[in-house]
Amino acid sequence: MRKLIIAIDGPSGAGKGTVARAVASELGYRHVDSGAMYRAIGWKALREGVALDDEAAVAALADASLIVVSNARVLIDSVDVTREIRTPEIDRAAAAVARLPRVRAILVAVQRDLGAGGEIVMEGRDIGTVVFPQADVKIYLDAAPEERARRRAQDPSHSGGPAAVSEVKTLLTERDRSDTTRAVSPLYAAADAIVVDTTRKPVQDVVKEVLEIVKGSGLGARG
Ligand code: DC
Repeated sequence: MRKLIIAIDGPSGAGKGTVARAVASELGYRHVDSGAMYRAIGWKALREGVALDDEAAVAALADASLIVVSNARVLIDSVDVTREIRTPEIDRAAAAVARLPRVRAILVAVQRDLGAGGEIVMEGRDIGTVVFPQADVKIYLDAAPEERARRRAQDPSHSGGPAAVSEVKTLLTERDRSDTTRAVSPLYAAADAIVVDTTRKPVQDVVKEVLEIVKGSGLGARG
């Protein structure tokens, strides 16, 4: 079986994390959450008092950081930040540092290194468009904004206690705006991505659909 690179992009709350993890586990591939890297940089910048719009300073900080994203844990410079990076404050900090071209260049290089050998499912916003334009399979997951807000509000990995769906929807809309309108690598579906709408679809159905796309691409066949 060829060692595939599978790119999964889409907005927050579309189900990327759950689906990417399940698909990777089913195929025996590594799962990499690229958003966690932007979150870790946002977390460290806040902690060190670096202004989130100071591109040179945040890039220097990113360059000097060792980020490890594996086995559902996120470490930066050996500090486990898995839980700390799932807060509304870090949602905003991550979106801010993700707007900076020099920071993106540093993280994209790390992501390309991780995926160089294939057998990887990487999720994010620009995986099929920028990080791996040559990815073997590109999926763009989407869902209605209400549903994405509801999922995010109920997500136990997002700390801060139960949140009102309406409040989450406002924040999510703001972040969508930031992710889709930024000058560098804005979120959009690659021309050759397969769009999967996850609205009102149980997660196991979406996972099945994605695995069928992988098999249907002919790439999953042995030989
Ligand atoms: O997927 P997430 O919500 O954890 O991502 C955090 C932020 O990082 C979000 O604002 C989008 C941004 N991001 C990005 O610009 N490029 C990626 N490949 C992944 C995430």
